[in-house]
Amino acid sequence: MRRLICLLVAIGCVLNGREPVRTRKAMVTAQEPIATEVGVDILRKGGNAIDAAVAIGFALQATYPFAGNIGGGGFMLVRFADGRSTFIDFREKAPAAASRDMYLDAAGKPTRDSLVGWKAAGVPGTVRGLEYAHKKYGKMAWAKLVQPAVDLAAKGFPVSYALSRSLNGEGTVRLLSQFPESKRIYVDGGHPVDSTFVQPELAKTLGRIAKSGAKDFYEGETARILAAEMAKNGGLITMADLAAYQAAERKPLEGTYKGYGIITAPPPSSGGIGILQMLAMLEGSGYEKSGHGSAAAIHYVAEAMRRYYADRSEYLGDPDFYKVPVKGLLEPGYVRKLRESIDKDRATPSDVVKPGKPVMGEASGETTHFNVVDEAGNAVSFTYTLNGGYGNGVTVPGLGFLLNNEMDDFAAKPGSPNMFGLVQGESNAIQPGKRPLSSMTPTIVTKDGKFFMAVGAPGGSRIITAVMQVILNVIDFGMNVQDAVDAPRFHHQWLPDRLEFERGVSPDTLQLLAAKGHKIEASRPVVLARVEAILRSAEWLEGGSDGRQNGKASGY
Ligand code: GLY
Repeated sequence: MRRLICLLVAIGCVLNGREPVRTRKAMVTAQEPIATEVGVDILRKGGNAIDAAVAIGFALQATYPFAGNIGGGGFMLVRFADGRSTFIDFREKAPAAASRDMYLDAAGKPTRDSLVGWKAAGVPGTVRGLEYAHKKYGKMAWAKLVQPAVDLAAKGFPVSYALSRSLNGEGTVRLLSQFPESKRIYVDGGHPVDSTFVQPELAKTLGRIAKSGAKDFYEGETARILAAEMAKNGGLITMADLAAYQAAERKPLEGTYKGYGIITAPPPSSGGIGILQMLAMLEGSGYEKSGHGSAAAIHYVAEAMRRYYADRSEYLGDPDFYKVPVKGLLEPGYVRKLRESIDKDRATPSDVVKPGKPVMGEASGETTHFNVVDEAGNAVSFTYTLNGGYGNGVTVPGLGFLLNNEMDDFAAKPGSPNMFGLVQGESNAIQPGKRPLSSMTPTIVTKDGKFFMAVGAPGGSRIITAVMQVILNVIDFGMNVQDAVDAPRFHHQWLPDRLEFERGVSPDTLQLLAAKGHKIEASRPVVLARVEAILRSAEWLEGGSDGRQNGKASGY
């Protein structure tokens, strides 16, 4: 009997929860339902996962202005059906006129210019990245992939409750009302539920992109309008910056956890190294034996988080500008020392934890993530962003899209916190042409050499720990993919020395954690990222679209 009870406790998470969406052949999970269906439609018409990702990337610009973008940048991780994988980096870059101290006032204090307004924008990478991915790996005609977004913008679509609530949020209205074009498009009229949202300027911009590709955005009419408005409004991005922007194809980082393969984001993402280093600290520790959600398990994982974020503050940056010690940060002996420094019973105060010494050889952070798995077995894990929700608040007159405030992901003042409270170092200081460090962590997990799971999230610095917890929930705690993304999460990022929690963690668990020395802010319920995931089980593709968001998993 005792053994049965133990077993039931151990697998309790399997016995209750929300069922994932199940399909046989192909699936999309995205944070906005219309965009999900755009992707599924492309797959049904014979497009592959890369084609569907391109179409979703454009569609979200029309349906999800909060984070969907052609004015931002991001990462696309692909695992092909034959086992190869690649990573397309279309992260924004600092304009040529950017400089190290550009966001400091006369007293050396960071200003808000990295967050709001024309100066906050990095050179957008999304259109280049989508075109690069399509040219090299897509199957369908480019114009066919952009057309659904053109139609959504030109003909409009019914405003959902989620979109109306987002556009009418106090912070959104405050941000966007500072800029007349943004106010006109997104604020005026209030966009009530079920009204039709038509975006004629965006439709024209997307129409040009459908016809001429990235050339329009970086060298053609869109580039000319963008650069002229930048010059008029004190922004830094020039025609030369736009023409020079190229996406980079990089080798994904690869590692393992308990025999599963982990394929994930290399620098300038800090996420892949984070996932791999933290998983390596956890593997073999036996932390999971205390059970999901137990104070002991949360404590141990939080201590691993604390140690990784200390390293992140010092050693991560754009690999084209700074030699990131990837190997050193993941070297087993180095990780073992980090693990050995974890006290199973006591929190180590963050002022005691310093960035380690590896062998030398980047709120409501808003971003969006989607996954696609096609009939052939190709998988895409895709995260892109404007950084803050609605980016820097600026809509370029005549172009109909918002610009990013990605410049805030740089260390405006090395050693001072950014909008995510992240303290970062010289490795991520501003330099012309440099990409700011990111936390975006598109990840694909394999099992026995085959696709097992695609996972990722928006959420700024919380992305990395959220993606890792979903992987742990599946592998260590046997949850289905929907339960795994819905389960309450926690987060520690070294500085500030604070353990954050979502609703759903019991008060006595929090008390036990406080007794171990953790600084708990339970009075302030937070949402720690919104995860999208697709998992391959023996017979099914199983989709988990985060219950914290009005997204959708769909397929056939
Ligand atoms: N802008 C959020 C990130 O890239 O981490």
